[in-house]
Parts: sequence; C-alpha cells; structure tokens
Amino acid sequence: NYYAILMAGGVGSRFWPASKASNPKQFLDILGVGETLFQTTFKRLSKLIPVENIYVLTNAKYVDMIKDQVSHIKEEQIVAEPEMRNTAPSILLGALKIYKKNPKALTVVAPSDHWIKDEDKFLDSIQEAFDNVELEDKLVTLGIEPTYPNTGYGYIKYDKEDKENLKKVDAFTEKPNEKKAKAFIEAENYVWNAGIFIWSAKFIIESFKKYLPDTFSVLDNGKEKWNTPEEEKFIEENYSRTSNISIDYGIMEKSDSVYVIPVSFDWSDLGTWSSVKKELPSDEDENTAINCRLLSEDSENNIVSTVDKKIVVLKGLSDYIVVEDKEVLMIIPKSEEQEIKQLREKVMKDF
Ligand code: GDD
Ligand code: MG
Repeated sequence: NYYAILMAGGVGSRFWPASKASNPKQFLDILGVGETLFQTTFKRLSKLIPVENIYVLTNAKYVDMIKDQVSHIKEEQIVAEPEMRNTAPSILLGALKIYKKNPKALTVVAPSDHWIKDEDKFLDSIQEAFDNVELEDKLVTLGIEPTYPNTGYGYIKYDKEDKENLKKVDAFTEKPNEKKAKAFIEAENYVWNAGIFIWSAKFIIESFKKYLPDTFSVLDNGKEKWNTPEEEKFIEENYSRTSNISIDYGIMEKSDSVYVIPVSFDWSDLGTWSSVKKELPSDEDENTAINCRLLSEDSENNIVSTVDKKIVVLKGLSDYIVVEDKEVLMIIPKSEEQEIKQLREKVMKDF
C-alpha cells in the first residue's frame, strides 16, 4: 500500500545561473556525483516504495527530462502540470490519482532536490511514519533540529513535555521573518520542516476538502478521468482554476492533525551555493570545485562551478561564488548570495 509523490516542478532560482527554468536544480548533478538530485531521490524512495507506485508531479516542460533521467517508469506515473500553481494543487492531484488506484494507499510526499546522507535512517523514519498513519488519520512531517534562524523554512512547534517519537504539533509557521525565526531557535522546542510529508491518500484528500475546498472541488470533478486517457485533457482545462498556494500555507498551517517526527539524519535542502559547499569536499584552502579542475593561489573559501569541466585558475580571490553556464558567468561574493534571485530577475528582464 505504499506510494510516493515526488515533487519535481520547482525552478530552483537561488541556484542561478546553473539552475534555470529550462533546466532546474533537481535535474542537475549539482553535487558532481554522477547523477542528478532527482535521480538520487528516485533511487532512495524506490528502496521502500515499489517503482510502479512512485508518481512524479512536474511541469509539462520537464516531462521529457524526467523520461530521460528515469527511463524505467511508465508514462502514467508522470503527471504534467500545464502551469505552476505551487505544491498544494499538485499534491492533491497526485493523491486523487493514487486514491482511485488504491483507497488504502499510504503516501510519502518528497521534494526532489534535497541531500540526505544516511539513507537507512531516512527510510526508517518514513517507515515509522507509515506505521502511524496506517492506524490513525494524521498528517506527519519530518522535523530537523535547527541550527540557525533560516527564514526559508517552515518551523514546527511541539510540546516540550511530549516524550513520544511522533509528537503532536502545536503550531506550524511557514517561512517566518528573521525576528520570529530567532525567537523560535531560542525557544528550543521548534524544528525545521523538512518538507517530507507522510499521510494516507484518503486523509489528505479530506483535509483539502476542509481547508482548500475550492481547489478540492475543481479537481474532484475529474474523478471519472484519473488514470484514463482523458486525464491529461481534464488537467489542461482545469488546473489554472486551482489556488496557487503551497501545501505548507494551504494545509499544514491550518490543520489540527499535524504531527512531527524529529529526525537525526544529516539533511540539507541544498537551498544555496553555500549549503551545497558544506556537503562537498574542498581543498586545503577551503575551495570547492564542482565540475571543474581548479588551480588556485592565494585564494580561499571559493565555490567554483563550470559547465564542461574547465580548468579554472584563481589568484588572489577569496570568499566568492564563481558559476558559469552556457550563457552566463556569475562572480559574486558569498556574503551576497541571497541577492542571486533578484539578479536573475534583472538579467531575465534586461537581456
Ligand atoms: N510539481 C510541482 N509543481 N512541484 C513543485 C512546484 C509546482 O508548482 N513548486 C515547487 N515544487 C517542488 C520543488 O521542486 C521542490 O522539490 C518542492 O516542490 C518544494 O518546493 P520549494 O519551492 O523548494 O519549497 P521551499 O523550499 O520554499 O519550502 C518547502 O521546503 C522547505 C524545506 O526544504 C516548505 O515545505 C518548507 O516548510 C520547508 O522547510
Ligand atoms: Mg526547497
């Protein structure tokens, strides 16, 4: 009864210029390990979930890329969204299809662009969550011990006295401001939402009915069409009428059936070049080379990435990100990396 919904429709704009709308981060070998983040995620999930039960939700423009990268899945396991409506509608779509196949389905929803070091621990946590949601209607997420006030994550507050492994969530706050994030870290009973969700298809559908009723009714109209040749046309014609909202704002912040399993595996959402650097080897001067060979003198703490394994020579450059793709070469101080999103927008507008 185990199923997976693999989320692979995002753009990964903070990884520009390597990651872009035409070829986003999840489809790149961003760690230089010989396979893309998407391929690694797919393999990881297939250790627990039968391959034919893994559904990939993505934008229509990435379907061919997915077929290339995981050639052993069936056409019907890839769901193409005609436009980006964020994660909530896409998760509901997956759940409705899966529910029709198997009303008893238990589902893990996973992003396709994360790094997880200890696969066994990850799989054990998912198994534990499955065991729980099989017995009771719950929305379970995995929680990571926070180390600094990152404002790009969701924060989960649980009751300090709760000694269970699976803890009832007191409050879920998606992407707090800096001040709130700092307070959460100090409070010590908050964990980061890993964006990995476990629930039964039946219960997440009921939750949509309750908290996002409009989106629910738009898609529920397609019930006769799921997993038939008419599905694609239905999605094309109706998807734009769903709410453009993430699962975090749409369901997790509102539902009172949210639970968390604090986990201890090494995890990173690989949100920025610096976070990627942390997971990769570097030379004695802390320079990290991705897809290139580096000759460096008097240069420390840089991240360098090229498209076709160039030789890069650095002299007297420290604390920089140097990234090229076919059209763009970006050189930016590491301390300014939160500006990348805006710079990308400027380039897209002006060039
Ligand atoms: N199919 C599809 N369609 N996938 C999408 C879409 C979409 O419209 N938008 C985003 N995704 C995919 C992304 O590719 C990624 O794998 C996943 O959904 C999560 O989206 P992000 O855009 O990366 O979310 P986030 O990082 O801002 O926030 C989420 O993840 C954090 C942890 O990484 C939230 O769940 C946070 O609470 C969480 O802390
Ligand atoms: Mg993310």
